[in-house]
Amino acid sequence: MIRTFNPADLEPVVGLLKKTLIADPMTSEIFQRKVLLDPNFDTQSALVAEEDGNVVGLVLGLTRRLLIEDQSPDFDRAWITLIAVEPKRQRKGIGQELLSRLQPYLKEKGASSIWVSPYAPNYFSPGIDINAYPGAVQFFRKLGFDEVYRPLSMDASLLSLQTPEWVQEKERSLAEQGVVIELYNPHHILPVLEFMKAEFPGDWQRYIRETMSKITLGQYSPDQIWVALESGKVLGFAQHEGERFGPFGVASNQRGQGIGAVLLFKCLHAMRDKGLHNAWFLWTDDKTAKLYKEAGFAETRRYVVMRKTLE
Ligand SMILES: CC(C)(COP(=O)(O)OP(=O)(O)OC[C@H]1O[C@@H](n2cnc3c(N)ncnc32)[C@H](O)[C@@H]1OP(=O)(O)O)[C@@H](O)C(=O)NCCC(=O)NCCS
Repeated sequence: MIRTFNPADLEPVVGLLKKTLIADPMTSEIFQRKVLLDPNFDTQSALVAEEDGNVVGLVLGLTRRLLIEDQSPDFDRAWITLIAVEPKRQRKGIGQELLSRLQPYLKEKGASSIWVSPYAPNYFSPGIDINAYPGAVQFFRKLGFDEVYRPLSMDASLLSLQTPEWVQEKERSLAEQGVVIELYNPHHILPVLEFMKAEFPGDWQRYIRETMSKITLGQYSPDQIWVALESGKVLGFAQHEGERFGPFGVASNQRGQGIGAVLLFKCLHAMRDKGLHNAWFLWTDDKTAKLYKEAGFAETRRYVVMRKTLE
């Protein structure tokens, strides 16, 4: 039987996800925060497969009801951020049944395509992990989804971090041009927000606003953010939360001058100085990965983003 999620499903669903999504940590709190408390959560598109009173499958579909800050509208998209079938009951058509129930509903909500799984704000991974879940890639292909691109996650040890000479040279030449990279202070709040609105509207804008708010509450420290500035105007930023590095970005018309490299190394050194041994992030592309490799990052996970157009 396929039915919509109800509050009593919390524990069995978390149990199912723990058992099935072996590469991704799951707790009741993570599920509560990233699923039930997500502003776009809709019980009608959170479908559960039940057999003999037991939860044996789940699919979580989402469409957007609320835009994030200044993001461009994407009400014509839907996302699947979680799908799992109890290991002993896989390959019996349950996954397919869950999707057949979900798709018409997502279409009715206005979606003309379904994406697995790059949804902001609460994605679990950028796409399907091709090494951990090869069967899921086959599953989505069979059901008419096509590959869009392959993002990756990277990790680095910070223990032997050294800033290469070319990055130090870039920092000197940027300084000569009046570009400085400095730690965040409250005078940066308005220029940072103006920069984010223009360059990275939407989820990153929301994220750094929340980081700056948490700094005022003492939950975060001002030394988690680095800012690149020219005459008081923000050209780029990098931030970290514990060992998680990012987000990190440079204005589109300022790229290619080394601002990103200097920001990256400043932030990583600051992380190491705080006693952190490692740095990691979940999502980049192969082009940006080249810069990260300069700082010792190596690929740890590879994903495929998949999409289906709804007829
Ligand atoms: C992916 C998953 C949800 C699919 O659910 P399912 O109930 O096992 O899938 P179905 O039985 O409906 O499969 C439908 C078709 O998809 C394809 N398929 C499904 N699983 C497959 C696998 N492991 N290998 C190859 N093809 C597969 C087959 O063509 C299958 O039809 P067939 O059995 O008649 O050949 C389930 O296998 C699962 O929970 N996997 C582990 C968790 C996971 O990978 N989640 C996604 C993370 S992004």
